[in-house]
Amino acid sequence: MRYKIVTTMGPGGYEAYGRRFLESMGRHWPGASLEVYTHDVNQLEHPGATIKRLEDTNGWQKIRVMLPDGKDGPSLAYAFKAIALAESVEPSLDWIGFIDADVEIMQNVSDADIATLFDNSFDLTYLWRKAVRESEGSWIGFNLQTPAGASLLADFYGMYVSGEFAHFRKPHDNAILDRLVAIHRAHGLRVCNLAEGALGLDAFHQSPLARFAVHYKGPNKDVVADPGAMVPGRYELLCNFVRQVAHRVERDSVYLLEVGTWNGSRAIQMANAAFEAGAKSVYYLGFDTFDQGNDRVFEGHTKPHASVDVVRGRLENFARVMARKGLTFCPNLVMGDSTATLPGVSADLMYDFAYIDGGHSYPTTKSDYESLKHIPYIVFDDVLNEEEGAPEGPRRVLEEIDDRQVRIIRTGDPYAGLEGDIGFGLVVHPDKPLLEITTSIQVQPKHSVDPTEQIESIRLNSNAERVEWLKTSQAHSKTALLVSAGPSLKESLPAVREAWLNGATIFAVKHAVPTLMAASIYPEYVVLLDPRPPSAKSTHGIGRAELIESIAPTTTALVATITNPETVELVRRSGSARLLMWHHVSSTNLGVELPELHRGLVVRGGTCAATCMPALASIMGFRRFKFFGYDFCYPADTQQDGIEQKLMEVRVGQNGPPLKTTGELVAAMQDLQTILPWMIQQNFTVEFFGGGAGPMIWHEMAEEYRAPGEYVEE
Ligand SMILES: C[S@@+](CC[C@H](N)C(=O)[O-])C[C@H]1O[C@@H](n2cnc3c(N)ncnc32)[C@H](O)[C@@H]1O
Repeated sequence: MRYKIVTTMGPGGYEAYGRRFLESMGRHWPGASLEVYTHDVNQLEHPGATIKRLEDTNGWQKIRVMLPDGKDGPSLAYAFKAIALAESVEPSLDWIGFIDADVEIMQNVSDADIATLFDNSFDLTYLWRKAVRESEGSWIGFNLQTPAGASLLADFYGMYVSGEFAHFRKPHDNAILDRLVAIHRAHGLRVCNLAEGALGLDAFHQSPLARFAVHYKGPNKDVVADPGAMVPGRYELLCNFVRQVAHRVERDSVYLLEVGTWNGSRAIQMANAAFEAGAKSVYYLGFDTFDQGNDRVFEGHTKPHASVDVVRGRLENFARVMARKGLTFCPNLVMGDSTATLPGVSADLMYDFAYIDGGHSYPTTKSDYESLKHIPYIVFDDVLNEEEGAPEGPRRVLEEIDDRQVRIIRTGDPYAGLEGDIGFGLVVHPDKPLLEITTSIQVQPKHSVDPTEQIESIRLNSNAERVEWLKTSQAHSKTALLVSAGPSLKESLPAVREAWLNGATIFAVKHAVPTLMAASIYPEYVVLLDPRPPSAKSTHGIGRAELIESIAPTTTALVATITNPETVELVRRSGSARLLMWHHVSSTNLGVELPELHRGLVVRGGTCAATCMPALASIMGFRRFKFFGYDFCYPADTQQDGIEQKLMEVRVGQNGPPLKTTGELVAAMQDLQTILPWMIQQNFTVEFFGGGAGPMIWHEMAEEYRAPGEYVEE
């Protein structure tokens, strides 16, 4: 097998992580032919690697001419991977692989690893993330022996070198490659997703690469990518329990046990939680059938079987990284059916916490619990209410426990194909105080109007006379002020005014318009997305019609086609400067084949106008955003009277204060949790003003994020 490994490095990259990568390659993968492409750095040299400058390539020169100002928008950086890969191709190569340089090779790369990365039964190996429906670009392997693999790489390069990439809404390398893969697949491309079944954002460590390599994140590139990013919400509750147990054990070492280790993500997430709580050593014992496999239908789970070698390697690598920080992580894995492997050793297992998430049949769950019931704190996963197709083990076993404190916690996480959500079962020894239960509320947004009526609105609005559609614009450097109607907007008005007077553009939800206009601030855009008739009072208790009529003539209304046609008529009569239409993607029209959806832009935003504004502004070319009034909660002294929806209390993160809110606003918070990672991924500049949930969610998600600096011409 003749293959080459390619990577790229930018300014400061060699010092920050590149040297570590190259040295680790030399130590553990000496047989690899390695080619590094640098940009914006002086000539580098490193033994064992061929180092070239991207600036010296034809591709760079061509693309650079097409992007003369290089500011914002589609940038040269999106093309680096494609240029480096295409430039490295030689006729003698069988495969070519790209790996991110912020990776460290931790263990010797074996022939079996190489055969997996460059599996000749495929044309492409890569890492697909279903959570964001996008690949992770830290690994891509192209099979150059097959026309399908070679022409995919040629097209990847061609997309950039032809300038075509600039016409895509998402022109960065992952998105362009995904688009090409979708097309080439239809023509027979054989694709191997190395991260089959992966949850969340980090696919790298859920692939065979994890056996021998670590992918770092963070500004100093010294933190292993977080297995908890964008995974189902209940895992945060699991970590919360682990933190509490770690606090309670009153020693430096914490003992964690898991039945159903799967790919090791929860082992690392739970260990991180224990370290956060102050543990200096974490001992982890995991049981799984791993490569031996078992009857997944009988055991009621859908996860692909994990390889014990890969998971062991992953946990050992994590242990090495923690050791450099002075912390001990001691993993131990037992392969086999837990009904056979657990009972024999159970009495010796003096563990602090057990997570039972292996086989979900009744006999297996029962046997696991019987072996572990002496452990003071136990959490069962997948406790489902009785329903056709729901695994019965965890529920039935919990029902039978009468000598422990038992709590069932609804987590809101969906279970594929079932109506009911996934519950956690917490079982605490009678001598121990119960753990505090802080659930992350998940709201399944309900339609405020019958879906068929919404489809009718889409038809009527799209086919009305004089429809003008919103269009995609080239990226630019103006700032979008996204203004929602939370209570903190009033105190943020001076900041809104200052930015607006300095040339920023205001996008407002309709409830924010009166507050802005009372302060003589006239938004350029108001976003309307409400299928309910204008005659009804809004959730804020204000007449919708009144709000529409107050829109200033200088304001352009950005109206989703699901908006009630009566509202649209009111907008036309209100004399707003312009009315631009767009389609809102929701569960109503997702999957519905409407010819109208082929006319006009379909925008994937959140459930309300406020959480659609980032996507709308980005379509219009904005890359810099300031958020105001994204409280998504009411002042602390608000009473239920006068509020249509039921008030509830939620917290953002572990230590956030209680916020008074409603289900509709919690849905908006959930939207932000999806939209903000996308904005980070796009390298957007984001700033939150005011109070409430929005700034807290941003702070939680973007602690380590720094938007890129301004472009400087050398
Ligand atoms: C739902 S997955 C576990 C997910 C994991 N705990 C997590 O949170 O990421 C179930 C795992 O249990 C394992 N398993 C199923 N039946 C088992 C049995 N009888 N003995 C041991 N492991 C079993 C499967 O191989 C699978 O990896």
